[in-house]
Amino acid sequence: MTQSVPVLDFGAQTAQLIVRRIRELGIYSELLPHDVSEDEVHRLNPCGLVLSGGAASVYDEDAPQLPSWVRDTELPVLGICYGMQLQSYALGGQVSLADEREYGPATIELLEEGSIFAHTPREQPVWMSHGDRIEALPPGFRPLARTTNAPFAAAGNDARRWYGIQFHPEVVHTRFGRDILRNFLYDVCGCTGDWKAANIVHEAIERIRTQVGHGHVICALSGGVDSAVAALLMHRAVGDQLTCVFVDNGLLRQGEAEQVVATFQEHFGIQLIAIPAAEEFLSALDGVADPERKRKIIGEKFIRVFERESQRIGDVQFLAQGTLYPDVIESRAPDRAKGVTIKTHHNVGGLPDDMQLTLVEPLRYLFKDEVRATGLELGLPEDWVWRHPFPGPGLAVRVLGPVTWERLETLRQADAIFIGELRDAGLYRATQQAFAVLLPIQSVGVMGDGRTYADVVALRAITTEDYMTADWARLPEDLLARVSSRIVNEVQGVNRVVYDISSKPPSTIEWE
Ligand code: XMP
Repeated sequence: MTQSVPVLDFGAQTAQLIVRRIRELGIYSELLPHDVSEDEVHRLNPCGLVLSGGAASVYDEDAPQLPSWVRDTELPVLGICYGMQLQSYALGGQVSLADEREYGPATIELLEEGSIFAHTPREQPVWMSHGDRIEALPPGFRPLARTTNAPFAAAGNDARRWYGIQFHPEVVHTRFGRDILRNFLYDVCGCTGDWKAANIVHEAIERIRTQVGHGHVICALSGGVDSAVAALLMHRAVGDQLTCVFVDNGLLRQGEAEQVVATFQEHFGIQLIAIPAAEEFLSALDGVADPERKRKIIGEKFIRVFERESQRIGDVQFLAQGTLYPDVIESRAPDRAKGVTIKTHHNVGGLPDDMQLTLVEPLRYLFKDEVRATGLELGLPEDWVWRHPFPGPGLAVRVLGPVTWERLETLRQADAIFIGELRDAGLYRATQQAFAVLLPIQSVGVMGDGRTYADVVALRAITTEDYMTADWARLPEDLLARVSSRIVNEVQGVNRVVYDISSKPPSTIEWE
């Protein structure tokens, strides 16, 4: 069974990031509530534990405490920030309420070489964020590093294999954070680094089989990477017990519907029902200009079509969905491997209660980069794996104003030119999302000897880490010139192209 180093969550904003860093180093990790039981942790085959930071002071009345089983554990433990203070406090050290918080960049000086600081320099920049400070270490601990403000910026007890660091190794400002974590995981905990795509696939398949048994599963395929990988994993696990449903709502990009069918049905041999529903969606959207109404109409329509189709399939017990680990952590879902009956507000757009399907979430413990690695492992083509996100309401929120088939076609052509050129320039992956938007205005132009009064296309390309904030991509001028010239020449009814140079905030990524 795969090894793990779970992180106990004492409330730090960056707790999720610690889990990511551990997994990036090839070891499975999960974020668990700080009061999790020992049994629950042992079920994950742990070879060490990390105690996260947190905003509390160990002296607060309701401060989360170190569980007694952790105090007595034989596992190696790394305490980070509040986690280190808890360690000290629980093992007989002294923690004092500091007058001032130490927040931001600091430099630590190592007091000795080796252990968790092996192969890192004597002085190194770190990121601090703590209020209390440690005045005296518990018996058996010795200081490993200091700053001008903190005499015990790091400490350790080699015999127990317990270490504490006052700074945050998980953030990039701590220059050698990754090395420190690696030293702890490999040298102290003795992990072998067995969290690899092949094992991810193997474990996910086992889990799916246990949950689904001989049941039948439906899965809504959107064309995005998450639902694609979820479907492939399900198919590997249960074969023809899976039926995928793909709703062609007419709001997709050029060639997209054909590509979904070619990839999943023809290439992977998955049972796929492709529902041509463009007319149905477009007539529901007829004359609607308001973005939120468009979203609502499309969401509801999707449910109706999906519901109708699943009734036609009949005997189905499970619905597979591509929920990712960050969503699970953020919603603090108490449930772990068990299935939950879907409520009305799920990803798929909120399926009706009376469908009574049990949810299967094969990506429930994966981060996005792991979903991509899994996709590659399962043979999903590279350009699919690295696909930019595409909003559920599709091109309906990129044809500004009322949506018609003609305007969708105009946008599809312009978008295909833009994305094609971006790919040819080798810059598709240099931007995290790029697309064309058809504006609801016309402008004057001149073509040949004649005056034109025609549509305007806006190009949007952004760079971002998390899609919460974004900057506009500094695409090369000659690429933009080529795209503009091709769109105006090749797409009927367009005589002007503009490039969106707004960041988010204050703008959003999509225009509607
Ligand atoms: P905004 O425009 O809010 O977009 O900056 C952030 C990210 O979310 C995507 N997006 C959506 N995805 N349904 C979706 O599934 C939607 O209604 C929706 N609106 C925006 C957007 O493409 C970007 O990646």
